[in-house]
Amino acid sequence: MTDSENYDVLIIGSGAAGLSLALQLPAHYRCAVLSKAHMAAGSTFWAQGGMAAVLHDRDSFDAHEADTVDAGAGLCHEPAVQFCVSQSRSVVDWLIDQGVAFDYRADQPDAEFREFHLTMEGGHSHRRIVHAADRTGRAISDVLTQNAAAAANISLLPDCYAVDLIRVDGRCVGAHVLDTQSHSVKTIAARAVVLATGGASKAYQYTSNPDGASGDGIAIAWRAGCRVANMEFNQFHPTCLYHPKAKSFLITEALRGEGARLLLPNGEAFMTRFDPRGELAPRDIVARAIDHEMKRLGLDCVYLDITHRSPEFLRSHFPTVYERCLSLGIDICKDRIPVVPAAHYTCGGVVVDQFGASDLPGLYVIGETACSGLHGANRMASNSLLECFVYAASAARHIADTDLPAPKKLPEWDDSRVRVSDEGVIIPYHWQALRRLMWDYVGIVRSDRRLAFAANAIELMQVEIANYYSQFLITRPLLELRNLAEVAALTVRCAAARQESRGLHFNRDYPDAKPHAQDSILIPRDHPAFQNPQSEDLQLPSYSTQVSGRKS
Ligand code: FUM
Repeated sequence: MTDSENYDVLIIGSGAAGLSLALQLPAHYRCAVLSKAHMAAGSTFWAQGGMAAVLHDRDSFDAHEADTVDAGAGLCHEPAVQFCVSQSRSVVDWLIDQGVAFDYRADQPDAEFREFHLTMEGGHSHRRIVHAADRTGRAISDVLTQNAAAAANISLLPDCYAVDLIRVDGRCVGAHVLDTQSHSVKTIAARAVVLATGGASKAYQYTSNPDGASGDGIAIAWRAGCRVANMEFNQFHPTCLYHPKAKSFLITEALRGEGARLLLPNGEAFMTRFDPRGELAPRDIVARAIDHEMKRLGLDCVYLDITHRSPEFLRSHFPTVYERCLSLGIDICKDRIPVVPAAHYTCGGVVVDQFGASDLPGLYVIGETACSGLHGANRMASNSLLECFVYAASAARHIADTDLPAPKKLPEWDDSRVRVSDEGVIIPYHWQALRRLMWDYVGIVRSDRRLAFAANAIELMQVEIANYYSQFLITRPLLELRNLAEVAALTVRCAAARQESRGLHFNRDYPDAKPHAQDSILIPRDHPAFQNPQSEDLQLPSYSTQVSGRKS
């Protein structure tokens, strides 16, 4: 059964990036926001820490830029960094206008003059993180979802999973979308399509991300002919809760910002052996140090200790962490918290310019799905929400200013040659095998041998998955597995090509960084530059307009 719909803009993904773009389009643009599950199922809802913004008198754009570039290990694109950092205050103003309630300092009762309560995280030289306790993502997600639901021009479509984009005459003109409730595939036409599906951390066995982080947008854009870059830079969050009943629950870095120490089981603090910034070094350094100590001593976990802060402080600033840990028998006011690193953020993604425009006309890609150049080889904590809002606004302006062709009658989905699967076991088998393989062979520490093994194993899995896809009716688990295998293959290709160690990518066969940093750009087979790439095809796009309104 098929069904057709038409919109001006089709937004695939209902997190911070997708919803804020929808809310900034002109009110006469009819748009649809798709989520493959319920509207708040993505990573935004789970963000604890907050959003980096230059808000304190003693902070400056220069300092935020320098910290971002330093964390990014030589690979940040300075125009992208300047572009994002310079807009952080206007993003905060926009969110407040939308109704997001950030925390203010409790010691300044005069509402007119009070300042934001700002937290500190790894890599930042100033307190810079605006937040709503440790539930910032939920505060943002709730408000934006409500506002989008109330907007007459926005249709929220839960349980709608984009299968693939539709290209006609070299343009993206819509998508085929599986309704996961009715199991039918709709054809949705649009004048512009936006991918904002988040990252691919579910490619790893242990992750802080919700179940849906299967790299859908990256895989979909790659299949549609877009370049993908820097997929080897998977960020592992240093501190996820280690407990058999906690599915990699995040212990926010803001705890380390308030003085939490990382300890070995014997109580020894170890981080300053690895970096003078100790617990507040950038994430790549902290995660690698924990991994090193766990492997050296054969540990299941290390410990995070915040017991020096008062119970009142911990309960009011970290209610989510406090309550979740307590529900598992860990009182963070008295007990050390068992923690391990887990896959957390995909720094690479689909190559885009400053408007979020991809290589495919009509297709925009924003947020974690994109590679904008902001994060380089290692994203600095809390820069990701900022990136979502900055590029959503930029893409919304670009879509509004561009003369987009009217949607056409599109090819319908054809499932006349497939049947209901009687080989379902193949999906969970490959799902588990792939994620275990990525954790063991393409994890925090890599080697040429492990990467070569992983490349071969993933290629075989992809053949079997493609075979299954060609014979059986599609389901959400099949689509997720297909996308996950695609992004895993891209990750391994980027990792194998990088013959150095930089930022989040550490290969023990090349432990040092090369003198000059270069992006890893992959060109798909049906991209015009596949046969004969020019130097600009192997770089991220340059920014064409001056960054305005920049003041320190
Ligand atoms: O630790 C955290 O709260 C995570 C922040 C981030 O990933 O930016």
